Amino acid sequence: MNTLIWQLGIIVLVLILFKRFYRGNFKRSSGIGNVPGPESSSWIKGNFDQVFNPSAWNFHELLARKYGSTIRLHSPFGAKSTLYTFDPRAMHNVLVKDQEVFEELDGFIESNLLLFGDGLLGTLGHRHRKQRKMLNPVFSAAHMRGMIPSFFDVTHKLESALMTKLQNGPQVQEVDILAWMARTALELIGQSGLGYSFDPLTGEECAHLYSKMIKELLPTMMRLQFWRTNILPRVSWIGTPRLRRLVVDLLPWNELHHMRDMVDYMHTIASGIYESKKRAFEKGDEAVTQQIGRGKDLISILMKENLKASDEDRLDDTEVISQMNTLIFAAMDTTSSAMSRVLHLLSKHPEVQDKLRNELIETRRQNGGRDLSYDELVSLPYLDAVCRETLRLYAPVSNVSRIARQDAIVPLSKPVIGLDGTEMHEVAVPKGTSVIVSILNTNRNPDLWGKDANEWKPERWLEPLPTAVTDARIPGVYSHLMTFIGGGRSCIGFKFSQLEMKVVMSVLVEKFKFSPSVQDDETFWQMNGVTAPVVGKDKHPQLPIRMSLAN
Ligand code: HEM
Repeated sequence: MNTLIWQLGIIVLVLILFKRFYRGNFKRSSGIGNVPGPESSSWIKGNFDQVFNPSAWNFHELLARKYGSTIRLHSPFGAKSTLYTFDPRAMHNVLVKDQEVFEELDGFIESNLLLFGDGLLGTLGHRHRKQRKMLNPVFSAAHMRGMIPSFFDVTHKLESALMTKLQNGPQVQEVDILAWMARTALELIGQSGLGYSFDPLTGEECAHLYSKMIKELLPTMMRLQFWRTNILPRVSWIGTPRLRRLVVDLLPWNELHHMRDMVDYMHTIASGIYESKKRAFEKGDEAVTQQIGRGKDLISILMKENLKASDEDRLDDTEVISQMNTLIFAAMDTTSSAMSRVLHLLSKHPEVQDKLRNELIETRRQNGGRDLSYDELVSLPYLDAVCRETLRLYAPVSNVSRIARQDAIVPLSKPVIGLDGTEMHEVAVPKGTSVIVSILNTNRNPDLWGKDANEWKPERWLEPLPTAVTDARIPGVYSHLMTFIGGGRSCIGFKFSQLEMKVVMSVLVEKFKFSPSVQDDETFWQMNGVTAPVVGKDKHPQLPIRMSLAN
């Protein structure tokens, strides 16, 4: 009997040990710790300074070249590892399938909430889904069509301001094209998004305070990055809003006060626009159509839909005001960066510029010189190719970050050889792990796009795309690219931005010639949250380009 008990005991022990060994092995071989990646450059900052800095291009390129599409990075203060990926299946899981597990970081949400209010960029979960449900139809293709006339109105103002500048001065002039694109992007989202005009787009001196201020916003946010992401989520709940405001006022901290004043200003403008819209709505349809957006701007459409919505779906006043701040912020720097990039590339590729101009001139000749219609604009193959190729190779946003709210498994399309030599088909990430999705490396992946993935070649879009691209199942909403990401938090304005880019480029390239500035060698595009060009040691974003009349 005793021997039998001993034998059973030994069998149970062996089973327990085997299970533990197997689980431990499984844990080790599929855990994030087994994924290869670079050494940490410092215990305090981990690899973060290398990933997030204005000149991080080479580091991202090295990550892809040396480690492949799934990489482990060291987090600050020796905290849990961070997963860096551009593996299609992993991105699909993080951004689409398990998007409720992988949410935006607390610091991102908290700081957006304080800056823009409880709009799309400041909410999570059910509240965010409810807002998307109301806002998705507002961005439909049908509504985008209705915006074409106001896009052209704004762009013709830009055209005549630049025309006047060139006619009244030297025939070839250095122009800060970034400043003009920023003003144009603000006016386009102002008129077509909010039904409000910020800027008459006449001379250089009349830029609206908003456009000057919003240019300061991102750099100030970057300077406060550490505090926003690490400290803010821990203190933002303490006391009442009134007390928190008092603390902000009393702190001797210029940067913070600058931020506070910008937030107050944005809020005052948005509240004023909302109140005047509400009054117009109370007066009836005629008063609404007499407003700047003729009732066809995004916020007017949202307000109309909101009136019809059920109590459960309806957005309250503060949510609508917050969407205004959110839209201006999300639309402005991204689109002005993309439009400036197109013009910069055209200035350096005169053959592409000429070919595009010929396409535009020929189309306008055929339609009797009218502004292009929506259908004409979206069916211009070369304009489309130039825009797509620019948004592929030079996506204005290089990465997005998420955090695992619970333990999760991230499956991979392409296995990784783990540090222990095993083939990893998935990565187990514990709760609290950050995930960085690399837009940059997805769009430049030579396994998909071929050996010339790093070259700017609009022609590639005139032929069928490589099957590696179409078969890869990239989870992005746009053209097998991650430029506007995918899933429930993908860019809601991606059709809007396509259209505004095409309207602005179609007018400018037809009328003006662009060539590199004398300072071109010193021009450097900083990665930042949204890429921005600077010249030499001057930190102030700018993009000088030489302009002349096209004929
Ligand atoms: C070339 C131009 C643009 C690019 C490259 C771009 C890119 C992106 C990306 C990558 C995100 C995801 C951010 C994240 O998850 O952290 C995003 C979100 C967003 N974008 Fe855009 N965007 C552009 C233009 C616009 C425009 C014109 C609008 C509005 C009219 C807009 C409105 C938004 C909003 C509201 C969100 C937040 C969506 C949500 O969380 O539900 N964007 N954009």
